[in-house]
Amino acid sequence: MEQLHIVGGRRLHGQVRISGAKNAVLKLMAASLLVENECIIRNVPLIKDVLTMIEVLRNLGVELSWEEEAVLRIKPKKGLNYVAPDELVREMRASVQVMGPLLTKIGKVKLFQPGGCVIGQRPIDLHLKGFQALGAHVVEEHGYVYAEASKLKGVDIHLDFPSVGATENIMAAAILAEGTTVIKNAAKEPEIIEEQNFYNRLGARIRGAGTDTIRIEGVPALRSVPVDYTVIPDRIEAGTYILAAAITGGEITLLDVIPEHFEALTSKLKECGVQIQIDGDNMTVASSGKLKAIDVTILPYPGFPTDLQPQMTAVMSLADGTSLITENVFGGRFRYVDELVRMGANIRVEGRSAVVKGVKRLTGAAVIAPDLRAGAALVLAGLAAEGKTVIEGVHFIDRGYERIEEKLSSLGAEISLIN
Ligand code: EPZ
Repeated sequence: MEQLHIVGGRRLHGQVRISGAKNAVLKLMAASLLVENECIIRNVPLIKDVLTMIEVLRNLGVELSWEEEAVLRIKPKKGLNYVAPDELVREMRASVQVMGPLLTKIGKVKLFQPGGCVIGQRPIDLHLKGFQALGAHVVEEHGYVYAEASKLKGVDIHLDFPSVGATENIMAAAILAEGTTVIKNAAKEPEIIEEQNFYNRLGARIRGAGTDTIRIEGVPALRSVPVDYTVIPDRIEAGTYILAAAITGGEITLLDVIPEHFEALTSKLKECGVQIQIDGDNMTVASSGKLKAIDVTILPYPGFPTDLQPQMTAVMSLADGTSLITENVFGGRFRYVDELVRMGANIRVEGRSAVVKGVKRLTGAAVIAPDLRAGAALVLAGLAAEGKTVIEGVHFIDRGYERIEEKLSSLGAEISLIN
């Protein structure tokens, strides 16, 4: 079993290049089911979730190949399969994002119903309600969800919550529908804008992504043109390295980022005493290591992202004072707290909030990552802790961080991957 071994206490210094955004790439790959010709996606990170999505798509009848590092060529074959493979859907929930594109392209899709997961309940009721509103027939039985539609019709849909996945799936399902679909209370994440742009390159007519109202004017068919698309940098990976600088009292320059995508984080860190300087696509983060505790409320974009909540909690565990971290997106995203406490943190979870009393030091320990972002939080804690930290559950971290041990080593961390 893989482990990450970290000897903490080093200030990180240097430059790090941020990879393409996992949560955009996975959706563009699913969106490629609608490609009539072929497409090239650039800036694709070599992470486990991308490899899983490649397998999901191959099973559905899509040809995928690496052209060169970070460049994927994708071409759907004629006659796609409508059943996504169970074991891959269990492995990666993002597999549900093939539903909208398949419903549009071949009028049916069947998928193992993804259950609850380690970060809390993650139903897909909003996705399914959207499909039904568009005229699809949806059946949930024997642990599967099956949707079919001979014809979809544009409609106004108001989401109860600005779900990222539901917004994306409904957007995809509406592309060839008759008439106009309006999604209200839509998710506003930058990854949704990526999808809008990608679909529009294929010939769709979508406007408004990035706001809470997205308008999809159905078109009779997509164009048969090759598409070449470069994915935005990963704002969550960027945020994690920013927090690595903050927690180690270091100075890191992030290359190739879009600073506007993580303003919720940088504005909070400025309050804590971290210095942030932006120079075009690069950003330098400098910290003395002495941070002031602040309260953080997790909200959908443009609020403070839930995918940086565990890492921020790790940083606050060494801040001066007490901070209250309130999670409003997922119900169960504090499972890593016991591991941080094992390293000497003083954190108490009360319902949706964690009360973090800053301590003077963390000490290295053997810990287990319960999920991807929690794993990143343990890495950050390990970088700042005295002595050695051994992290298990590395396969979670591999799902979303490209070569994390190499990138951190190049910044001066003492970290190694042990097989
Ligand atoms: C996406 O998940 C991301 N995953 C998550 O990143 C991210 O944490 C999340 O958005 C929120 O930003 C991918 O993009 C692959 P949601 P998604 O639908 O789409 C409730 C990471 O670490 N909900 O916005 O599944 C749900 O229970 C991952 O990279 C419903 O109630 O998130 C949750 O409380 C983890 N019914 C909230 O909405 C639904 O039908 C937000 O979920 C759908 C969602």
